[in-house]
Amino acid sequence: MSFRNSVKGLDQLISGDMKEGYVILITGAPGTLKTAFTFTAMNGMLSESGKRGIYMTLEHKREDLLWGLKSLGITQHKNLGIVDIAGFKNNLNQISGYNITGTGFYELMLKTMESPIENGTEGPDGKPWFCAIDSLNVVLSVLRISHEDRRDFVNNFLNILKSKNMVSLVVHEETGQDLDEYYIADAVITLGIDRTDKNMPYRYIIIRKMRGIEHKLGQFVIDANKEGIEIVGQKMKT
Ligand SMILES: Nc1ncnc2c1ncn2[C@@H]1O[C@H](COP(=O)(O)OP(=O)(O)OP(=O)(O)O)[C@@H](O)[C@H]1O
Ligand SMILES: [Mg+2]
Repeated sequence: MSFRNSVKGLDQLISGDMKEGYVILITGAPGTLKTAFTFTAMNGMLSESGKRGIYMTLEHKREDLLWGLKSLGITQHKNLGIVDIAGFKNNLNQISGYNITGTGFYELMLKTMESPIENGTEGPDGKPWFCAIDSLNVVLSVLRISHEDRRDFVNNFLNILKSKNMVSLVVHEETGQDLDEYYIADAVITLGIDRTDKNMPYRYIIIRKMRGIEHKLGQFVIDANKEGIEIVGQKMKT
Protein backbone atom coordinates (compact mmCIF):
# COMPACT_ATOMS: atom_id res chain seq x y z
CA MET A 1 0.00 0.00 0.00
CA SER A 2 2.61 2.44 -1.06
CA PHE A 3 1.35 5.94 -0.40
CA ARG A 4 4.83 7.38 -0.96
CA ASN A 5 4.83 6.22 -4.58
CA SER A 6 1.21 7.09 -5.31
CA VAL A 7 1.80 10.66 -6.50
CA LYS A 8 4.83 11.65 -8.58
CA GLY A 9 7.54 13.15 -6.38
CA LEU A 10 5.88 12.29 -3.06
CA ASP A 11 8.74 9.89 -2.31
CA GLN A 12 11.02 12.92 -1.82
CA LEU A 13 9.03 13.74 1.32
CA ILE A 14 8.22 10.34 2.81
CA SER A 15 10.56 7.48 3.69
CA GLY A 16 8.34 4.77 5.13
CA ASP A 17 5.01 3.18 4.46
CA MET A 18 1.70 3.15 6.26
CA LYS A 19 -0.21 0.28 7.76
CA GLU A 20 -3.86 -0.65 7.58
CA GLY A 21 -6.16 1.49 9.69
CA TYR A 22 -4.13 4.56 8.80
CA VAL A 23 -6.19 7.76 8.48
CA ILE A 24 -4.81 10.66 6.47
CA LEU A 25 -6.42 14.11 6.50
CA ILE A 26 -5.95 16.21 3.39
CA THR A 27 -6.58 19.83 4.27
CA GLY A 28 -6.41 23.14 2.44
CA ALA A 29 -8.31 26.18 1.22
CA PRO A 30 -10.67 25.99 -1.81
CA GLY A 31 -8.96 25.17 -5.11
CA THR A 32 -5.73 23.87 -3.61
CA LEU A 33 -5.88 20.46 -5.39
CA LYS A 34 -7.33 18.51 -2.46
CA THR A 35 -9.55 16.47 -4.75
CA ALA A 36 -6.90 16.06 -7.46
CA PHE A 37 -4.29 14.97 -4.91
CA THR A 38 -6.60 12.54 -3.12
CA PHE A 39 -7.88 10.98 -6.36
CA THR A 40 -4.35 10.65 -7.76
CA ALA A 41 -3.12 9.08 -4.51
CA MET A 42 -6.00 6.57 -4.61
CA ASN A 43 -5.28 5.70 -8.26
CA GLY A 44 -1.59 5.28 -7.47
CA MET A 45 -2.16 3.01 -4.47
CA LEU A 46 -4.60 0.88 -6.48
CA SER A 47 -2.17 0.51 -9.39
CA GLU A 48 0.64 -0.55 -7.16
CA SER A 49 -1.30 -2.93 -4.91
CA GLY A 50 -3.85 -4.37 -7.37
CA LYS A 51 -6.40 -3.89 -4.58
CA ARG A 52 -9.58 -1.92 -4.84
CA GLY A 53 -10.88 1.26 -3.35
CA ILE A 54 -13.90 3.43 -2.94
CA TYR A 55 -14.13 7.19 -3.48
CA MET A 56 -17.07 8.73 -1.69
CA THR A 57 -17.84 12.07 -3.26
CA LEU A 58 -20.17 14.34 -1.36
CA GLU A 59 -19.36 17.69 -2.97
CA HIS A 60 -19.83 16.71 -6.58
CA LYS A 61 -21.86 14.29 -8.62
CA ARG A 62 -19.79 11.46 -10.06
CA GLU A 63 -19.79 12.96 -13.60
CA ASP A 64 -18.89 16.42 -12.30
CA LEU A 65 -16.05 15.00 -10.26
CA LEU A 66 -14.65 13.17 -13.29
CA TRP A 67 -15.18 16.21 -15.52
CA GLY A 68 -13.21 18.40 -13.08
CA LEU A 69 -10.35 15.90 -13.01
CA LYS A 70 -10.23 15.55 -16.78
CA SER A 71 -8.49 18.90 -17.31
CA LEU A 72 -5.72 17.54 -15.10
CA GLY A 73 -5.48 14.34 -17.15
CA ILE A 74 -6.77 12.29 -14.20
CA THR A 75 -9.10 9.38 -14.95
CA GLN A 76 -10.82 6.73 -12.88
CA HIS A 77 -8.73 3.62 -12.12
CA LYS A 78 -10.46 0.35 -12.99
CA ASN A 79 -10.31 -0.80 -9.35
CA LEU A 80 -11.89 2.38 -8.03
CA GLY A 81 -15.58 2.64 -7.25
CA ILE A 82 -16.98 6.15 -7.11
CA VAL A 83 -20.06 6.70 -4.98
CA ASP A 84 -21.97 9.95 -5.03
CA ILE A 85 -23.39 9.30 -1.61
CA ALA A 86 -25.25 12.59 -1.16
CA GLY A 87 -26.88 12.18 -4.61
CA PHE A 88 -27.69 8.59 -3.77
CA LYS A 89 -29.44 9.76 -0.62
CA ASN A 90 -31.43 12.38 -2.55
CA ASN A 91 -32.46 9.86 -5.22
CA LEU A 92 -33.50 7.37 -2.60
CA ASN A 93 -35.49 10.06 -0.80
CA GLN A 94 -37.23 11.02 -4.03
CA ILE A 95 -38.03 7.48 -5.13
CA SER A 96 -39.13 6.18 -1.77
CA GLY A 97 -40.64 9.38 -0.45
CA TYR A 98 -38.74 8.53 2.69
CA ASN A 99 -36.52 11.24 4.08
CA ILE A 100 -33.16 9.75 4.99
CA THR A 101 -31.39 12.16 7.29
CA GLY A 102 -29.19 12.06 10.36
CA THR A 103 -28.29 8.63 11.63
CA GLY A 104 -29.89 6.93 8.61
CA PHE A 105 -27.54 8.73 6.25
CA TYR A 106 -24.57 8.09 8.49
CA GLU A 107 -25.28 4.36 8.56
CA LEU A 108 -25.76 4.32 4.80
CA MET A 109 -22.40 6.02 4.39
CA LEU A 110 -20.55 3.66 6.70
CA LYS A 111 -22.10 0.60 5.03
CA THR A 112 -21.37 1.89 1.52
CA MET A 113 -17.76 2.48 2.48
CA GLU A 114 -17.33 -1.24 2.93
CA SER A 115 -19.58 -2.46 0.20
CA PRO A 116 -18.15 -4.75 -2.47
CA ILE A 117 -17.46 -3.28 -5.88
CA GLU A 118 -16.86 -5.37 -8.90
CA ASN A 119 -13.28 -5.01 -10.02
CA GLY A 120 -9.94 -5.88 -8.55
CA THR A 121 -8.58 -7.78 -5.63
CA GLU A 122 -10.20 -7.11 -2.35
CA GLY A 123 -8.91 -6.62 1.16
CA PRO A 124 -8.50 -9.70 3.40
CA ASP A 125 -12.06 -9.37 4.69
CA GLY A 126 -13.62 -9.02 1.23
CA LYS A 127 -13.91 -5.26 1.51
CA PRO A 128 -12.31 -2.32 -0.26
CA TRP A 129 -8.82 -1.63 0.98
CA PHE A 130 -8.64 2.09 0.30
CA CYS A 131 -11.29 4.66 1.04
CA ALA A 132 -11.52 8.38 0.31
CA ILE A 133 -14.12 10.77 1.68
CA ASP A 134 -14.45 14.11 -0.10
CA SER A 135 -15.25 15.99 2.04
CA LEU A 136 -15.61 15.81 5.80
CA ASN A 137 -17.15 19.30 5.74
CA VAL A 138 -20.14 18.01 3.76
CA VAL A 139 -20.52 15.00 6.06
CA LEU A 140 -20.75 17.44 8.98
CA SER A 141 -23.23 19.66 7.17
CA VAL A 142 -25.48 16.85 5.82
CA LEU A 143 -25.64 15.41 9.30
CA ARG A 144 -26.20 18.88 10.74
CA ILE A 145 -23.52 18.42 13.37
CA SER A 146 -23.50 21.49 15.59
CA HIS A 147 -20.31 23.29 16.48
CA GLU A 148 -20.46 21.92 20.03
CA ASP A 149 -20.86 18.34 18.84
CA ARG A 150 -18.26 18.54 16.09
CA ARG A 151 -15.29 17.51 18.17
CA ASP A 152 -16.97 14.35 19.48
CA PHE A 153 -18.40 13.47 16.09
CA VAL A 154 -15.11 13.80 14.19
CA ASN A 155 -13.30 11.94 16.96
CA ASN A 156 -15.77 9.10 16.67
CA PHE A 157 -15.84 9.11 12.86
CA LEU A 158 -12.06 8.95 12.50
CA ASN A 159 -11.91 6.19 15.08
CA ILE A 160 -14.48 4.21 13.06
CA LEU A 161 -12.29 4.63 9.96
CA LYS A 162 -9.25 3.46 11.92
CA SER A 163 -11.06 0.32 12.96
CA LYS A 164 -11.90 -0.62 9.35
CA ASN A 165 -8.51 -2.04 8.33
CA MET A 166 -8.21 0.14 5.28
CA VAL A 167 -6.15 3.19 4.49
CA SER A 168 -8.51 6.20 4.52
CA LEU A 169 -8.01 9.61 2.99
CA VAL A 170 -10.32 12.27 4.37
CA VAL A 171 -10.56 15.64 2.66
CA HIS A 172 -11.18 18.62 4.89
CA GLU A 173 -11.52 22.13 3.56
CA GLU A 174 -9.93 24.61 5.93
CA THR A 175 -12.37 27.17 7.19
CA GLY A 176 -10.02 29.53 8.99
CA GLN A 177 -9.52 27.47 12.10
CA ASP A 178 -7.96 24.01 12.35
CA LEU A 179 -9.99 21.11 13.50
CA ASP A 180 -8.69 20.46 16.97
CA GLU A 181 -9.41 16.80 16.23
CA TYR A 182 -6.37 16.72 13.93
CA TYR A 183 -4.54 14.82 16.64
CA ILE A 184 -6.73 11.75 16.01
CA ALA A 185 -5.64 11.44 12.38
CA ASP A 186 -2.42 9.55 11.78
CA ALA A 187 -1.31 12.00 9.15
CA VAL A 188 -2.19 15.58 8.20
CA ILE A 189 -1.24 16.90 4.78
CA THR A 190 -1.85 20.55 3.96
CA LEU A 191 -2.15 21.85 0.43
CA GLY A 192 -2.00 25.54 -0.36
CA ILE A 193 -1.31 28.41 -2.68
CA ASP A 194 1.32 31.01 -1.81
CA ARG A 195 3.42 33.66 -3.53
CA THR A 196 7.17 33.97 -3.91
CA ASP A 197 9.00 37.11 -2.81
CA LYS A 198 8.65 38.18 -6.43
CA ASN A 199 4.88 37.80 -6.11
CA MET A 200 4.66 34.71 -8.33
CA PRO A 201 1.88 32.35 -7.19
CA TYR A 202 2.72 28.68 -6.67
CA ARG A 203 1.03 25.61 -5.19
CA TYR A 204 2.54 23.71 -2.29
CA ILE A 205 2.21 20.63 -0.08
CA ILE A 206 3.31 20.28 3.55
CA ILE A 207 3.26 17.06 5.55
CA ARG A 208 2.41 18.35 8.99
CA LYS A 209 2.40 14.99 10.66
CA MET A 210 2.75 11.34 9.73
CA ARG A 211 2.81 8.98 12.68
CA GLY A 212 5.41 6.23 12.61
CA ILE A 213 6.91 7.40 9.32
CA GLU A 214 10.00 9.49 8.67
CA HIS A 215 9.06 12.51 6.57
CA LYS A 216 10.26 15.95 5.64
CA LEU A 217 8.48 19.02 7.01
CA GLY A 218 9.24 21.73 4.46
CA GLN A 219 7.01 23.33 1.88
CA PHE A 220 7.26 21.42 -1.41
CA VAL A 221 6.06 22.85 -4.69
CA ILE A 222 3.32 21.03 -6.61
CA ASP A 223 2.94 21.47 -10.31
CA ALA A 224 -0.45 20.87 -11.91
CA ASN A 225 -1.01 20.60 -15.63
CA LYS A 226 -3.02 18.55 -18.13
CA GLU A 227 -0.72 15.58 -17.48
CA GLY A 228 -1.62 15.48 -13.79
CA ILE A 229 0.00 16.63 -10.59
CA GLU A 230 3.61 16.28 -9.52
CA ILE A 231 5.63 17.35 -6.50
CA VAL A 232 8.59 19.00 -8.12
CA GLY A 233 10.85 19.92 -5.21
CA GLN A 234 11.40 21.84 -2.02
CA LYS A 235 10.51 25.50 -1.96
CA MET A 236 13.59 27.70 -2.05
CA LYS A 237 13.71 31.16 -0.49
CA THR A 238 12.75 33.33 -3.46
N1 LIG B 1 -4.65 21.71 -16.72
C1 LIG B 1 -4.52 22.37 -15.58
N2 LIG B 1 -3.36 23.00 -15.28
C2 LIG B 1 -3.19 23.65 -14.11
N3 LIG B 1 -4.14 23.72 -13.17
C3 LIG B 1 -5.31 23.13 -13.41
C4 LIG B 1 -5.58 22.42 -14.62
N4 LIG B 1 -6.83 21.95 -14.57
C5 LIG B 1 -7.34 22.33 -13.38
N5 LIG B 1 -6.43 23.04 -12.69
C6 LIG B 1 -6.59 23.62 -11.34
O1 LIG B 1 -7.04 22.62 -10.46
C7 LIG B 1 -7.99 23.18 -9.58
C8 LIG B 1 -8.96 22.14 -9.10
O2 LIG B 1 -8.34 21.37 -8.17
P1 LIG B 1 -9.19 20.53 -7.11
O3 LIG B 1 -10.59 20.42 -7.53
O4 LIG B 1 -8.44 19.29 -6.86
O5 LIG B 1 -9.08 21.50 -5.85
P2 LIG B 1 -9.85 21.35 -4.47
O6 LIG B 1 -8.91 21.82 -3.41
O7 LIG B 1 -10.43 20.00 -4.34
O8 LIG B 1 -10.99 22.43 -4.71
P3 LIG B 1 -12.43 22.60 -4.01
O9 LIG B 1 -12.20 23.55 -2.93
O10 LIG B 1 -13.27 23.13 -5.11
O11 LIG B 1 -12.88 21.26 -3.53
C9 LIG B 1 -8.71 24.20 -10.43
O12 LIG B 1 -9.26 25.20 -9.60
C10 LIG B 1 -7.61 24.72 -11.30
O13 LIG B 1 -6.99 25.82 -10.65
MG1 LIG C 1 -12.41 19.32 -4.01
